[in-house]
Amino acid sequence: MKYDLFIFDLDGTICDSFEGIKASIGYMMDKLGYPKPSDETYREIIGPPFFYSMKHILNVKENLHQEGMNLYRGFFAEEGYKLFSLYEGIRHVLQSIHAMGAKIALATSKPISPTLKLLRYFGLTEHFDSINAPADDTVKNSKEFAIGEALKVPHRKAVMIGDRKFDGVGAAFYKLDFVGAGYGCGSTDELLQAGAIKVLDSVNDYYDYFELPVVNGKFVSVEGMDGSGKTTQIRLLVEKMKRFGFRFVCTREPGGTKISEEIRQMLLSTENMEMHPKTEALLYAAARSQHVQQLIKPNLEQGRSVLCDRFVDSSIAYQGGGRRLGYLEVKSINDFAIDSALPDRTIYLQMDASKALQRRAKASELDRLESEKEAFFMATQAVYSEILTNDADRFIVVNADDNVDSISEVVFKHVASVLDEKVNWNECKYE
Ligand code: TYD
Repeated sequence: MKYDLFIFDLDGTICDSFEGIKASIGYMMDKLGYPKPSDETYREIIGPPFFYSMKHILNVKENLHQEGMNLYRGFFAEEGYKLFSLYEGIRHVLQSIHAMGAKIALATSKPISPTLKLLRYFGLTEHFDSINAPADDTVKNSKEFAIGEALKVPHRKAVMIGDRKFDGVGAAFYKLDFVGAGYGCGSTDELLQAGAIKVLDSVNDYYDYFELPVVNGKFVSVEGMDGSGKTTQIRLLVEKMKRFGFRFVCTREPGGTKISEEIRQMLLSTENMEMHPKTEALLYAAARSQHVQQLIKPNLEQGRSVLCDRFVDSSIAYQGGGRRLGYLEVKSINDFAIDSALPDRTIYLQMDASKALQRRAKASELDRLESEKEAFFMATQAVYSEILTNDADRFIVVNADDNVDSISEVVFKHVASVLDEKVNWNECKYE
């Protein structure tokens, strides 16, 4: 292990702050009576301390600086933070650095209050051994100060990682190696001129460059009857997981690989009405086997979590129950197909059967499975209930009979808790 202390900058390195800062500064400039800056100018002000940017980049009159700060902070706390996101996958980088046994410190020039609020909101506080930011009322460039504080963590050799020249200058002050976050706001030239020994073009580059250990991903499936709102919930979940810095792939069944998608066509086509239930069960299992070997297992082994829209439980419920092939019969062909790749946890979207049926009836075009009769639907639902009882430890049951946003919040917190156990996700609020 070359470094045992990793010091990270926040904005532009961990956090993609562009939209949040653009909106907050735009609001402030407007209120102060200045024209809104260009995107290029917004990019320039991410990284430097606030008052430095006010004076040298935004050219705001000095007597308006304090009022500007108040306007900026007020807007940020109400609206601006909602537009922040973490770089996709950065959370897993932090997890892997810790898994290697190194320490992680934060050194930012963002004042301490908004820094702590953002870290808590994003569930990041737990991932830093030391958090260093200037006091809220500080007026001078304080990157050096924050790095100096970060260096108090006992270590042998530290590296500074940041996306702007200020991070490089701060690192040089303490004779630290500086690695540029080239995916952030500064250009490669700026970072090299600031002394970067390496510029990382993407979050993925951390693994090779720092020889991080691969920490296996988690496997989460999502199940529910047709009409339970699963598709909408998965879409919202994916957006949120990206924004919160998770490293994962999202896939679906039947499908996910070329061969499995071809089998999907065959399975769902309304031209194949003569398909025998056993053929159907075997085709679902065949599509699943290819999916497991080609996509699910390789991703988990490379440290990516896998979120899967339906998995083996769908077969047990639909073919075992709906098609009446039997729970154990369908389970046994699937035990062969999945080669021990059972999800770590499964989210089950639970909805009252008659309500789900009503919703399904409203859908304009139904595939071969969806056009089945009510008895099929009820038998499927009954076997789902049986699986929930038999495998209660794996299942997380979510009430899908609520408004879309509340369900989404609950689903996200459950999945986030599986993928990042260190964080208490119930406390992740911006306050
Ligand atoms: P899809 O259009 O993906 O539906 P949904 O959005 O409800 O998931 O079609 C998948 C259909 O295939 C769905 O009706 C459930 C069914 N199915 C099975 O019968 N067995 C299985 O093993 C799987 C994965 C799906």
